[in-house]
Amino acid sequence: MDEILDEVWTLLDSGANAGAQRSPFTMLQAATHGLDGTPAVRTVVLRRTCRAQRSLMFHTDLRSTKVAELRRDARIALIGCDMDAGKQLRLTGTARIVEDPRDTRPVWEASRPRTLIVYRAPVAPGTPVSTPAEAHPDPATTDGFEHFCLIEIAVSGIDYLHLAPEGHVRARFHFDAGSWRGQWLAP
Ligand SMILES: Cc1cc2nc3c(=O)[nH]c(=O)nc-3n(C[C@H](O)[C@H](O)[C@H](O)COP(=O)(O)O)c2cc1C
Repeated sequence: MDEILDEVWTLLDSGANAGAQRSPFTMLQAATHGLDGTPAVRTVVLRRTCRAQRSLMFHTDLRSTKVAELRRDARIALIGCDMDAGKQLRLTGTARIVEDPRDTRPVWEASRPRTLIVYRAPVAPGTPVSTPAEAHPDPATTDGFEHFCLIEIAVSGIDYLHLAPEGHVRARFHFDAGSWRGQWLAP
């Protein structure tokens, strides 16, 4: 069980630190409770992991729907899959919206400029527009920093699945009273 937990965090670390290479766990799908209760899911880039704090982090636009959803219900689920290795990670946790410039500024400054262009968009993500160009970033205005925030997730549940030729393996981990507790599950 401990080896599987180690592997989970190694896979997540590889996703966050993949650089130009990317890993199957660089892009995760993050699910929230939509404002009307409908499940909502979208792709995000895993930017940072910290096993000691059980945390994951991605960047987003403060104006986006997911931020409104997480302000109302902080529960979040993420999924990642390595198709070639037959491995799936399902994670659940609680999200914190980090918007204090003392926390966001250093991350903004350490980010590759091309990843920050989207924050210059003149309208909020999801706003109806008459043409795609109407939403394109406007270099003449701000740098967009005021729209940039971090979503930090405290992971409390992990479901690991490995579809292996020699026998499938599934394990669930739950963080409880200061430590991870594992349980084998039927795949
Ligand atoms: C490859 C890929 C990576 C993406 N990474 C992010 C990301 O890191 N953060 C983000 O907010 N949106 C990211 N998006 C866009 C989201 O999937 C989504 O369309 C957008 O954030 C609006 O979502 P919302 O309306 O649910 O808030 C990415 C999309 C793709 C296709």
